[in-house]
Amino acid sequence: MSQTLGPDTTTRADVPADGTLELGERSLAVVLDGRRRHFHYVWLRDNSWAAEDRVRQSGERRLFTPSIPPGIAPTAASWDDDRGLEVLWNDRRAATYAPAWLRRHDYSPAARAARRPTVTLWPEAAGEPPRFPHAEVVGSTAGQLAYLDAVREHGAAVVTGVPSEHHEVERFAQAIGHVREVAFQRVHDVHHDPAGYNVAHTPGELKPHTDMPSYDWPPSIQLLHFLTNRATGGESTLVDGWAALAELRRDAPHHLDTLTRVPVPFQLFSDDEDTWAENPMVALDTDGEVRLLRFSNQLAQPLAVPFEQVEAFYDAYRHLGSIIDSGRYRATFPARDGDLLTLHSHRVLHGRLPYDPASGARHLQDVYMDVDDLLARRRVLRGEHRPLPAQPQEDA
Ligand SMILES: [Fe+2]
Repeated sequence: MSQTLGPDTTTRADVPADGTLELGERSLAVVLDGRRRHFHYVWLRDNSWAAEDRVRQSGERRLFTPSIPPGIAPTAASWDDDRGLEVLWNDRRAATYAPAWLRRHDYSPAARAARRPTVTLWPEAAGEPPRFPHAEVVGSTAGQLAYLDAVREHGAAVVTGVPSEHHEVERFAQAIGHVREVAFQRVHDVHHDPAGYNVAHTPGELKPHTDMPSYDWPPSIQLLHFLTNRATGGESTLVDGWAALAELRRDAPHHLDTLTRVPVPFQLFSDDEDTWAENPMVALDTDGEVRLLRFSNQLAQPLAVPFEQVEAFYDAYRHLGSIIDSGRYRATFPARDGDLLTLHSHRVLHGRLPYDPASGARHLQDVYMDVDDLLARRRVLRGEHRPLPAQPQEDA
């Protein structure tokens, strides 16, 4: 029996037969598929599916986790090839952990890495986002999954042949999830309007940006439906912000670090509404990967940070802005009548080249959503949303 277990450094040749258990002081290792998999006792006890610990119907935890004593450990443990790991705990509870459940929840570095979503950053010479016919996205599970996979992996997709009807974009959002309602309008109309409340309503170039950084949690999905686009010019310009940040991380990690630390205020207001939030432009997840980019030159307000941070911020912002404005990682393409653009708007910036409002009508409507709901829909369509019980019910 080994007393201290750590990350697995053994080679395959050293690994004993499947089902071999090694009990340590605070964790155990079980060999499954020729690999030692390590689990802490407190983690196993917490994730017991024994009848006393779990609400069977909903999978909710009945066990109050903080009540698990720090000295929790097995008094007996064994392996059965069908049932899996069987443990009698020193608090007198018995629990079983099925092989499939242990595989799914293995938290070793390799298993965690394998579960990360695949994100394909755009190349420097980016092409148009993938296109999907409207009838297939709303009419078939396979079509909708292909569209959701594209949004998840590439951050953008175009749905084609969407009826050019008023508020069709809202109906589409409701077909795949829920509208995220924000200030101003539930469905935003974008057309030439000299009195409009932001620069999108002018015919000038709109540099790539993300919307609504004036919310603490900006909407993470944006749907833009082109009902009519007969004007000359006005091509869409999309930039993969995460690809731009990967370049910044490679060439100047200190600039990326600055942008994760210095808070920037953003504001968007109208005569009777106001949105304002102050956050760093870049948020990383707990693995250090980019999670969220806020980039809106037009909505940034005066910095209010300690004196010594000001120039460091401008140096970092200048660098990131030069990448975003360089044309690298940028897709430029005409919007056609009936196109509905879906953007993961914590990742992909959107903009527009100038257009001539006298040359023809141009009208688009957009709504926001949150990516959580798209990912939830994807999990439901793939049948992944129901938890796998660690201890299958005997009568199930
Ligand atoms: Fe915008």
